[in-house]
Amino acid sequence: MNWTLIRGSARRAIVCAMLLFWAAFLAGCKHPSETAELDAADPQSDAGKETVATADTVDVKSCDGENTVQVAKGLTGQAMADALMDQWQRNHPEANWVTEEKEKHVFLPPADNSALLQGDQGKGHVYGNFTERDLITWAREAEKFVAEGSRIFHSGDELGSQIAVSCDMCHPHAANTHPETYPKYQVQLGRVVLLRDMINWCVENPVRAEPLDPNGPKMRALEAYIMAQRKGTVMEYGKH
Ligand code: HEC
Repeated sequence: MNWTLIRGSARRAIVCAMLLFWAAFLAGCKHPSETAELDAADPQSDAGKETVATADTVDVKSCDGENTVQVAKGLTGQAMADALMDQWQRNHPEANWVTEEKEKHVFLPPADNSALLQGDQGKGHVYGNFTERDLITWAREAEKFVAEGSRIFHSGDELGSQIAVSCDMCHPHAANTHPETYPKYQVQLGRVVLLRDMINWCVENPVRAEPLDPNGPKMRALEAYIMAQRKGTVMEYGKH
């Protein structure tokens, strides 16, 4: 989509549609366990407040007619993601995971299997003896898979985003994706889901793209990257 070619009311209509979608998204975002505290801890919520749109902003009321979202005209990419996240954070003042995780710029390596080369450890293994070369191949191939996921995770184009938004804009280094908590009942979807279902939920909603084939190479790579970023975390399915 060439944004600059879309003018006036058409552009405004698209922004409105996106923001209404976002309002619906926000409504579904709260973890059930957090909802009560969040509402209590959020006396400055925008509910009911009027904000005035300036010449450079678009002012949109959400479906419930209570909240107002104001963003600059023609926003895409990081700017759009920031505007949307800013709104989300005003409703969730305690959730500073984005800032916290931005400080951790790490691409985690796969497990160190060098113990297999020592003594007799590898010898009784069902696939036979391993060489250092085997270990290098495993590590290289695993990293390649994960790097592919990282590439897609960081690319609005690869994800097919209509608004140039990619996952890292809200989940730097896969922060707050919690792959170790799946399968779990996901409130937004009203059922027990796998990680890939939640990935697709974000693909369709904040990223505004067509859902990925659950078994396709992009989804598989995204899963690999997200899991890799949580290396060392205890598996805890069902955790909220
Ligand atoms: C505009 C911001 C935004 C973008 C872009 C975004 N997400 Fe999300 N995502 C969220 C928010 C907000 C939540 C809900 C967090 C919460 O409830 O704590 C969420 C939740 C998730 C979860 C579930 C986390 C959990 O605790 O169970 C996963 C997995 C996820 N996103 C993956 C992705 C992937 C993959 C992409 C890219 C395809 C993506 N997200 C893009 C904002 C975003």
